[in-house]
Parts: sequence; structure tokens; C-alpha cells
Amino acid sequence: GASRLLLGRHVVITAGPTHEAIDPVRYIANRSSGKQGFAIAEAAARMGAQVTLIAGPVQLPTPPGVTRVNVESARQMADAVQSALPADVAVMVAAVADWRVADAATQKLKKDGTGQIPPLYLVENPDILAGLCADPRRPRLVVGFAAETQDVIPHAQSKLIRKGADWIIANDVSGAPGNSVMGGDRNAVHIVSASGVESLPDAPKPAIASAIVERIARALV
Ligand code: C5P
Repeated sequence: GASRLLLGRHVVITAGPTHEAIDPVRYIANRSSGKQGFAIAEAAARMGAQVTLIAGPVQLPTPPGVTRVNVESARQMADAVQSALPADVAVMVAAVADWRVADAATQKLKKDGTGQIPPLYLVENPDILAGLCADPRRPRLVVGFAAETQDVIPHAQSKLIRKGADWIIANDVSGAPGNSVMGGDRNAVHIVSASGVESLPDAPKPAIASAIVERIARALV
């Protein structure tokens, strides 16, 4: 029935933050909780999809029926996405670190007593979404997310073109830490595609997830 519209489809989802090592005990991270991506994985599995959820470091339970692959860094996430192919749909919800430390130290960095501060040289991480869009094994439907704090829709429209995604789902993550979309339980999004913008008003993340997954299922028919 209508509730199993994704039966036979493989959906790959990335979620959560990435951690980029500085040394064995320190890392660069971000405020992504993974909640929206996990909710999308749960909704897709409920609609009958085979779901591979590639999760950065978060303490969330694996949704029922979902195959979870845990990763830490952006490069591990990129490898896990490649290993998960082929797929019918990819939904890249993870807040991937744009940069990593060029040469992560193999021993803990120490204060040397002279007040010298170690410099951190950053290099760019692979863009998993853009890479997947350009891949010969590109899934039929590729959905990216955009966390913006201003000019949300124009930024999403340029991201759609720059990355080659079919949809960019934009949310406004401005607001004080602890009272924001990142980490919070609610979200409001704009689904931006070549054919226009559909806005889903503020709702609990599981409801936003169901609405997104319904639209994904309809797009595949
Ligand atoms: O460019 P920006 O980071 O805002 O793009 C966000 C979208 O791109 C999200 O879908 C995110 O999962 C994806 N992304 C990625 N790899 C990166 C950076 C972002 O897959 N290195």
C-alpha cells in the first residue's frame, strides 16, 4: 500500500557531525545532533526502503530496520558512501567538516612552557555530496541539506547548481546555541529544486522527516 512506497529502494543517508582529529585526544567538531538525519532514516525504513545510515559520532539509537555504519571523519564518511553504492536515493544530511587538520599529530600536543601556541594548518575535506553528484554511480535522486544563517533560499539555490544535487533542503540554523535547529527537536525547511521552492513550516523533526520521505517516494514513481 501507500505506506510501503519505498519497497525495493536503497536509500543512503549521511547524518551527524564529523570529527577531524587534531591529535589523539582532540578534534574539530560541530553542533550537529544527527536527529534530523536519523529521523529521515527511520521514516524511509518505515516506508519499506532498504536504508544505509552513515552516521558521524552521535549517541542516538539506530532506527528499526536500518543498517548503520559509524564513521568519525569526513574522509571515512566519503569512503562509506562509496561502499554503500549503488543506491536509488542519497540524502546527505551530515554536517561534514569543511576542513581537517593537515597533519594530525600522532602524539598529544603539549604546552612547551615557553607560551608558544601550536598552529593548526587546515586543508579542505572532500565534498561528499558534490562528489556523489558527479559519480558515474550517482543515485537517481540526490538530496543535500543546507544549514544557513542568512539568505537561506538564495544560498540553497546556488548550492543546488554548484553541487549538482536534485534538491537542496535548506534550514535556518541561526539562533543561540542550545535554542537552535542544530541539536533541537524541531525544524522548518525549504525544499529547493529546479522546479521551485516548497516550504515546510516549523514541526518536530520526525514530522519533517516523514514529509521529506513522502516527497522522495513520489519523485521516484
Ligand atoms: O557546502 P555546504 O557544507 O553548506 O553543503 C551542505 C551539503 O553538502 C549537505 O548536504 C552536506 O551533507 C553536504 N556536504 C558533503 N561533504 C562536505 C560538505 C558538505 O557531503 N565536505
